[in-house]
Amino acid sequence: MVTRVMDAPGEQPLPSEDYLAENGLYCGDARALLTRVRPNSVSVSIWSPPYFVGKSYEKDLSFDDWQKLLETVIALHFPVIKPGGFLVINIADILAFPDPTMPRVQADNVSTKKCPISRGQVLAAKNEHPDLNRYQLAKLLGCSEQTVQRRMEHNNVRGGKYATQTRVKLVGGLIEAWTIAAGFYPYDRRAWVKDPCWENSQWHSLSYRSVDEFEYIYVFWKPGITCVDRSRLTQQEWSEWGSRGVWYFPSVRSHAVHEAEFPVELPKRVIRLLSAPNDLILDCFVGIGTTAVAAIKEGRRYMGFDLTPEYIAEARRRCFKVQLGLLDDARP
Ligand SMILES: C[S@@+](CC[C@H](N)C(=O)[O-])C[C@H]1O[C@@H](n2cnc3c(N)ncnc32)[C@H](O)[C@@H]1O
Repeated sequence: MVTRVMDAPGEQPLPSEDYLAENGLYCGDARALLTRVRPNSVSVSIWSPPYFVGKSYEKDLSFDDWQKLLETVIALHFPVIKPGGFLVINIADILAFPDPTMPRVQADNVSTKKCPISRGQVLAAKNEHPDLNRYQLAKLLGCSEQTVQRRMEHNNVRGGKYATQTRVKLVGGLIEAWTIAAGFYPYDRRAWVKDPCWENSQWHSLSYRSVDEFEYIYVFWKPGITCVDRSRLTQQEWSEWGSRGVWYFPSVRSHAVHEAEFPVELPKRVIRLLSAPNDLILDCFVGIGTTAVAAIKEGRRYMGFDLTPEYIAEARRRCFKVQLGLLDDARP
């Protein structure tokens, strides 16, 4: 017999056996699976989405697709989060976003130029002395003949100045707009200081921009009664991180199985701060199961989704090992 569950007024309820079972990791699109989470059941949903930085699992997304994905996922969270519960999003601003429509304004990088003679100077000298050959122009300018040739033929350009420009996209405003439209209220935000990411060193050395070394943790609240229990953390934990706006812990440096997993410490802190034992914790971009591992270790129920079958397989393996107490966080 099909039991009907009436949890969300005005919404067509699913037969109860169609809701996903708790303590499960599911392979599929978050947008489809979120419609199968029992309404008002999740205390904290914590996730880190694709960042639109060219990882393999997001390579087919346009910027519009990416925005639509996040906007839809956020809207689908509102019915499933408990009144008084939280949606927590870990994300960084998008720094590496090639945008061909941007003006190509980047300056010459004078510190990497071997010879300070510019193309403009060579052309001016050639204009003034049209009869001089390259060797004579070089003598006049006090540089090598090779420099004269390179400047005249444009083959010494080192990328930056003429390459497609990189757009900086501040994502906080987008996330705020989408969460408010869904019915949530901004509640808190923290900065997670990880370690400098030198991978984008060209970005760093061809401009005055900083190296990327922190991300945000945005917290949104669904209106309702929120239990504030100061005994969830020790006095030391409150003063070291519970009440602090900036969190310091390293990111995961080896990406043997996943390109962009976060460390267990991140969901662990969020779970300890914002949920009680046995609460249900959701991660709809669960990757290799880091949030589920943290939930198990903190005595919470969990549910996780990911589009990539290999990640879900690894997530299940990790959770199994942690449940058996075989490994601390069961990283490969
Ligand atoms: C930043 S990673 C999350 C990593 C995870 N926090 C961990 O520690 O393993 C984003 C994940 O979203 C998944 N993903 C991308 N699009 C998705 C979608 N539409 N539905 C579900 N998962 C998706 C990717 O496969 C990837 O594992």
